[in-house]
Amino acid sequence: MGRIILTGDRPTGKLHLGHYVGSLRNRVLLQNEGNYDRMFVFIADVQALTDNADNPEKVRQNIIEVALDYLSCGLDPEKVTLFIQSQVPQLHEMTQFFSNLVTVQRLQRNPTVKTEMALRGFHNGETQDDNQRGLPVGFFTYPISQAADICFCKATTVPVGEDQEPMIEQCREIVRSFNSIYKCDVLVEPEILLPSNMACRRLPGTDGKAKMSKSLGNCIYLSEDPKEMEKKVKGMFTDPGHLRVEDPGKIEGNTVFTYLDAFCEDGDFANFWPEYQNLEELKDHYRRGGLGDMKCKKFLIQVLHDRLEPIRARRHAYEQDIAGVYDILRKGSEAACEVAAQTLHEMKDAMKINYFDDAALIAEQAAKYKL
Ligand code: TRP
Repeated sequence: MGRIILTGDRPTGKLHLGHYVGSLRNRVLLQNEGNYDRMFVFIADVQALTDNADNPEKVRQNIIEVALDYLSCGLDPEKVTLFIQSQVPQLHEMTQFFSNLVTVQRLQRNPTVKTEMALRGFHNGETQDDNQRGLPVGFFTYPISQAADICFCKATTVPVGEDQEPMIEQCREIVRSFNSIYKCDVLVEPEILLPSNMACRRLPGTDGKAKMSKSLGNCIYLSEDPKEMEKKVKGMFTDPGHLRVEDPGKIEGNTVFTYLDAFCEDGDFANFWPEYQNLEELKDHYRRGGLGDMKCKKFLIQVLHDRLEPIRARRHAYEQDIAGVYDILRKGSEAACEVAAQTLHEMKDAMKINYFDDAALIAEQAAKYKL
């Protein structure tokens, strides 16, 4: 059994540095290592619509943003199939069959669904106040549709952020239940692939709070203008107890150091700050006292410029060929449809609902009624 890699993102905004270190950078590495039979990366517009039904324009505009972010990070359409979820109708058929294998109670226990419901003010029927809205069925059941996203290509490996762990677990349960009920081995249980570095698993926003999120205004985008990026780093949360340069400073919870953990490479010191050999030396000095926040921020700015510049350059090139980008997505979607049609056929065989291919069924029914 070969290795098949699949992952995707909702097109609800431009991708930011949290997406980059949490998953994008990993995908490009995986792509370039070449240790797989096939790799798929897709734009989850159907999932984005589960809580944006009244705003399809937002989803429509962000398809191209996410596609440009993918290509600018170095995903190569020659090596990776890039596609749009809504353009692969087989996924919806699979979702329907899977939905019979999942209970409402199981969905209600999914921690990611719970958190996201609370965040969006969707109530579950038990508590309700004026600020809450009803829970769309499509939103509530999106983990089932996500299982179809993963299963259509029999993905073995899903590189995603930590918050997606409950989704992968739920998908594995669906696979086990399908294969056991229909006595087959059509579907494959996927494994999650998390970034090894903790700073990358949950990159905080520039305010040091939780995750980066557009609604909190604490993001640095991949396509961020260099001047804007500098401004955001200069305003970053550090150690509030580090008032004077000579004071000892704290590394834990200090956003500048969390970002350095996520982005800094040893070569950056030789290039931009030769007084130090590596990040450990820099941290030691900060802890001892005598090292100002602004110096550290300026170093982080240089590191980020160095990482983001090639991404920005590739983006500019693709921006001048938008029709070409849609063409990449169209071709990728067609290729994904072929793979999905094959898996769906195998699923229907296992469920014995490929009636017209089933000569034995037709003969049996004919015999039953023959006078
Ligand atoms: N839920 C993912 C997110 O919010 C997007 C997604 C949809 C996905 N289907 C997927 C990720 C399948 C990995 C595999 O970012």
